[in-house]
Amino acid sequence: MLWLPVLVIFTLALEGAFHTEYNPYLESLKNRPWKSFQSYVQVRPGAFLFYWLYYADGITDGAYRKPLVIWVQGGPGLAATGIGNFAEFGPLDMEMQPRNHTWVNGRNVLLIDHPVGTGFSYATNDSLLVKTDREMGNRKETSQNELQRHRHRKRMGVAKGKYLGPTGFLVPHGCHRPEHVFTRQRDCEGHEEGAMDINMNNINQVSPYPALDKLAVKVNKYVKPMLSHVVNQDLQWNYHSEKVFTTLYKNFFVPSTKFLEMLLNSTKLKVAVYNGNLDVVTPLAGASNWVHKLEWPGAQELKEAKRQPIRGFRNGFFKQSRQLSFWSVFGAGHWIPEDNPMAMEHILEHMLDVSN
Ligand SMILES: *[C@@H]1O[C@H](CO)[C@@H](O)[C@H](O)[C@H]1NC(C)=O
Ligand SMILES: *[C@@H]1O[C@H](CO)[C@@H](O)[C@H](O)[C@H]1NC(C)=O
Ligand SMILES: *[C@@H]1O[C@H](CO)[C@@H](O)[C@H](O)[C@H]1NC(C)=O
Repeated sequence: MLWLPVLVIFTLALEGAFHTEYNPYLESLKNRPWKSFQSYVQVRPGAFLFYWLYYADGITDGAYRKPLVIWVQGGPGLAATGIGNFAEFGPLDMEMQPRNHTWVNGRNVLLIDHPVGTGFSYATNDSLLVKTDREMGNRKETSQNELQRHRHRKRMGVAKGKYLGPTGFLVPHGCHRPEHVFTRQRDCEGHEEGAMDINMNNINQVSPYPALDKLAVKVNKYVKPMLSHVVNQDLQWNYHSEKVFTTLYKNFFVPSTKFLEMLLNSTKLKVAVYNGNLDVVTPLAGASNWVHKLEWPGAQELKEAKRQPIRGFRNGFFKQSRQLSFWSVFGAGHWIPEDNPMAMEHILEHMLDVSN
């Protein structure tokens, strides 16, 4: 029976080493450094926007000759440095392990924690957080939009219901409301009435929140210390900022249709709208209606355009008219790069191909 204490001591020693030294983020970077640059920009007095630039293929040499992809996460309040970076397309995944289909292969990727208050971005005073898409736009416009907002909120609720009904998912009362789109399902009233834990991001997968909570722990514990030359170590990183979300809440369902029409009417910018068919947050049918109702010179052409397969028929289809393309991606929810990397790669290549 002498071996037993020895074994226990050995285990404890291992555990000690694990807690004090092992950093999975650092270990993965040792195998392949993925060179990147992080910094802040002061966008208003007291408001600091954080960005993280990956050099194409993780090397600075010749990076300037390669394309640049700029990523803002949305939400509002979701952090690009966490979700885009680790959950969707960065060189490392949420386990801090190498991701094969990273966008950084051949492309520079700039992740921005936007708006201020999100991720590593911060404001010295909460009054500095943005309240509308056109921050401080005129107040008159804001109050005129009030009615329209309610109309759109209702419409979003219906869309979601239209998706969940026919697909056989039951949602308890209280979770139908569109304001729950980004809240955790378990927080919805009436959830205990035998309801399913519906993942609004992807109807076929379990809730992403436990993994995101773990990611927040890992970013604070393993990633943040590696950024100590830039980031104040007292700052608590989270994948989502409730403050940013609630401050922007009134602007949540204000349509951006006119803005997109204006881009299409007056610029030659290429625009791709992509949507997964397993997405409940923004159901594909709703996105299709929206895109086909845009008023712009290419509208009729888009309606009549033939659907083309995305690398075979199982990845979905796309349609194109002039500079606008619309992508229906199969097998994917809200995080298309992670759910269907092959389709996403096709979209990126299409956008970056100057002959299209
Ligand atoms: C990632 O790529 C490596 C090397 O090409 C391959 O062996 C591995 O199976 C890939 N993993 C996944 C999950 O695709
Ligand atoms: C934050 O800004 C508000 C509005 O400008 C001001 O009233 C308040 O004193 C500021 N708070 C701090 C802690 O500076
Ligand atoms: C864009 O152009 C179309 C005409 O092709 C017009 O109906 C629409 O109102 C324009 N949208 C904006 C925002 O200017």
